[in-house]
Amino acid sequence: MKTRITELFGIKHPIIQGGMHYVGFAELAAAVSNAGGLGIITGLTQKTPADLANEIARCKDMTDKPFGVNLTFLPSFTAPPYPEYIEAIVKGGVKIVETAGRSPEAYMPALKDAGIKVIHKCTSVRHSLKAEKIGCDAVSVDGFECGGHPGEDDIPNMILLPRAAEELTIPFVASGGMGNAQQLVAALALGADGINMGTRFMVTKEAPVHQNVKDAIIAATELDTRLIMRPLRNTERVLDNPAVEKVLEIEREKGANTKIEDIVDLVGGVYPKVMQEGDVGIGAWSCGMVAGLIHDNPTCKELIDRIMNEAEEIIKGRLKALASA
Ligand SMILES: Cc1cc2nc3c(=O)[nH]c(=O)nc-3n(C[C@H](O)[C@H](O)[C@H](O)COP(=O)(O)O)c2cc1C
Repeated sequence: MKTRITELFGIKHPIIQGGMHYVGFAELAAAVSNAGGLGIITGLTQKTPADLANEIARCKDMTDKPFGVNLTFLPSFTAPPYPEYIEAIVKGGVKIVETAGRSPEAYMPALKDAGIKVIHKCTSVRHSLKAEKIGCDAVSVDGFECGGHPGEDDIPNMILLPRAAEELTIPFVASGGMGNAQQLVAALALGADGINMGTRFMVTKEAPVHQNVKDAIIAATELDTRLIMRPLRNTERVLDNPAVEKVLEIEREKGANTKIEDIVDLVGGVYPKVMQEGDVGIGAWSCGMVAGLIHDNPTCKELIDRIMNEAEEIIKGRLKALASA
């Protein structure tokens, strides 16, 4: 399937693996890229720019296909050394960067001068238009269903994607809630040029996370995610567990006066324990509503092949029959 996204990134299938903290290591990125999608290493999971350079080199040892690096611009006072991370990306020869969080505007000259294609993840049409204006090559339009940070507008992809299609000139992928062939076909129908998946790729053989994490997602239904940090306007969709219920209780009690200090033990710094040690109840971790559609733990190649083959069947079978009936 050729779309503007496969052409832009030089990949076989219009499927991207979104950056994920403590999930997007070289093993997963390489597996997705080897399967014909676009794998992405999560830049800030690497503690220093030198660690990122090493992770990029490891990924290159595992694939000769294009892969990208995610740079998440955090609203933090002690910002990571972004210029040094970008230097590691440029020197590592990576040609695709997925940006997220705050606007990448300040870093666009450094990225574009190095010939890097930038796909920015946005949760609204206005942010997508801003990304287009500052020279991003594509956007990942992240609907309310998504695992991680859905923003504060609460617009699901059934509306957000066709709204993006109305306004954008650059290509975009549908992100949030994506996990199977029906959804890829629907996303294409709504104007997207492909899909970006996070939660679905966590439950693959090559995802380097503890089996407990994968089992928890497989056991979960679409009813089992919660939105935390709403009072802080830093909403995150996470898998429900006792720690998350505790966060919600504190937020209910303190209301608009909730401060990050009130919940930080339950939301900050828990990823290594969850993802690597499998202590899934210790704190809040991102997970999308698509958990309800995840029932198995395939290889990345099995997953991507399944999505592409079934998408073709849907287009050439059911949809064609409906169109010509
Ligand atoms: C465990 C987890 C960690 C994530 N970490 C990041 C991150 O560090 N930076 C980022 O830009 N997005 C992050 N995301 C968001 C994903 O890249 C992607 O946009 C999102 O998962 C899409 O929604 P889906 O989970 O419904 O597929 C994370 C998502 C998950 C599930």
